[in-house]
Amino acid sequence: MRRFVLGFVVGMLALPVAAFITAWQGYLPALANTDPPGWERAFSQMALNAYVVRHAPHLSNPMQPTDENLLAGLNVFRDACAGCHGDPNSRNDYGASFYPHVPQFTFNPPRLPDWQTFWIVKNLGEVFGDVCLGRTVASRQGSVG
Ligand code: HEC
Repeated sequence: MRRFVLGFVVGMLALPVAAFITAWQGYLPALANTDPPGWERAFSQMALNAYVVRHAPHLSNPMQPTDENLLAGLNVFRDACAGCHGDPNSRNDYGASFYPHVPQFTFNPPRLPDWQTFWIVKNLGEVFGDVCLGRTVASRQGSVG
């Protein structure tokens, strides 16, 4: 029994102690001018997707993809988003200065369903440092279509 308890305690402490030593010795990545490691990107994307699936109401999109609506949406994107997310002509240097880099939607468009993307833009702007201007987009909805 004593060996079991000892093994349990050592097992419980091994991971935090290893993480501490790794950080203490300067092996944890700290640079912000690089891409996050693949495991960090995969983990945070998984967590974000799971959070959105759990919290976003399954709204049906009131906007029809008419030429007029698509053009109005493109204008909103150009004015409020392209400064970070890029435009069809170029990747955005400013967006590339973020950690992680701001996704360039022209080259790598969001793959989530529109009700999830809408919820992210409306609610997670503040999580992304109040950068996605969720309130601006929400308040403009009346004028888009
Ligand atoms: C100041 C820079 C900035 C602006 C302006 C901006 N965003 Fe973002 N956006 C970000 C950052 C940073 C992230 C988070 C990137 C990450 O975590 O991988 C993000 C993430 C997103 C995501 C989630 C992408 C995903 O799949 O993870 C969506 C959707 C999004 N933005 C939409 C918009 C829209 C729509 C606008 C314009 C209304 C906008 N953003 C304006 C910086 C910006």
